[in-house]
Amino acid sequence: MIMKSFLGKVAVVTGGNSGIGYVTAKELKEKGATVVITGRRKEVIEKAALELGVIGLVADQSKISDINELVLKVTKQFGKIDKLLINAGISKVAPIELTTEEVFDEIMNVNFKGAFFTLSMFIPHLNEKASIVLLSSTSATIAPANASVYSSSKAALNALMKIAAKELAPRKIRVNSVSPGPIATEIMNKLGLNKDIENQMITSLPLARFGTPHEVASVITYLLSDDATFITGSDYVIDGGQSI
Ligand SMILES: NC(=O)c1ccc[n+]([C@@H]2O[C@H](COP(=O)([O-])OP(=O)(O)OC[C@H]3O[C@@H](n4cnc5c(N)ncnc54)[C@H](OP(=O)(O)O)[C@@H]3O)[C@@H](O)[C@H]2O)c1
Repeated sequence: MIMKSFLGKVAVVTGGNSGIGYVTAKELKEKGATVVITGRRKEVIEKAALELGVIGLVADQSKISDINELVLKVTKQFGKIDKLLINAGISKVAPIELTTEEVFDEIMNVNFKGAFFTLSMFIPHLNEKASIVLLSSTSATIAPANASVYSSSKAALNALMKIAAKELAPRKIRVNSVSPGPIATEIMNKLGLNKDIENQMITSLPLARFGTPHEVASVITYLLSDDATFITGSDYVIDGGQSI
């Protein structure tokens, strides 16, 4: 259903070809926004863009040159933007002593460095009263074993979110984050979790199930909307009670 908050507004969703980003892009489009999604895989991003009726651009969030090109393309076509969801992220697990520099750089370059520069390069091109959401994780605070780099990348995002909220407040731009617990998306398959580990995770959750991408997207859409105009610098936990 069309919403005044989104009608005629331009929204950018990084990592919008699957999971949480895909479902959020769908909701933003349905509410009336012009939506741009990004991802690394050309065929996947083109397919998603066609399905959603949005603009799909190939851009690797870990590459500064790609972020720069993304900002140039978006601003050339649409001018300033109103909604920014920095969602692209990857996860890999290993104990600290077995974590290589390569894996450290790979995760940090997408999840933190890439998110940082996506934010920083879009800042001059945000309309007054724009709204930004960063995709964090409960891992930032519950500190799961074997997820040291991933959790640190998300903890860094939480700090960035609060500082950005302060720096951008004079322009009435709001910055928040969402921290999902386990959500059923491709990232779970990419982690290679087997059924036993999945079942263990499920039984450890008070609500005894994984969340859905829609359950995260609806909170993101709320934060991006004009219903949340007094909310900035906040992290929203969506985790079925995992962090109680
Ligand atoms: N699912 C969960 O349980 C969970 C929990 C907490 C937080 N999160 C966070 O939620 C976000 C979305 O994850 P998801 O669960 O929706 O997983 P997903 O289905 O794997 O989606 C990740 C998206 O990010 C894109 N992406 C990955 N690396 C990228 C890069 N370097 N540049 C541009 N795009 C990139 C992927 O597309 P390409 O591979 O085509 O690039 C894909 O569109 C992530 O930041 C993740 O850390 C997820």
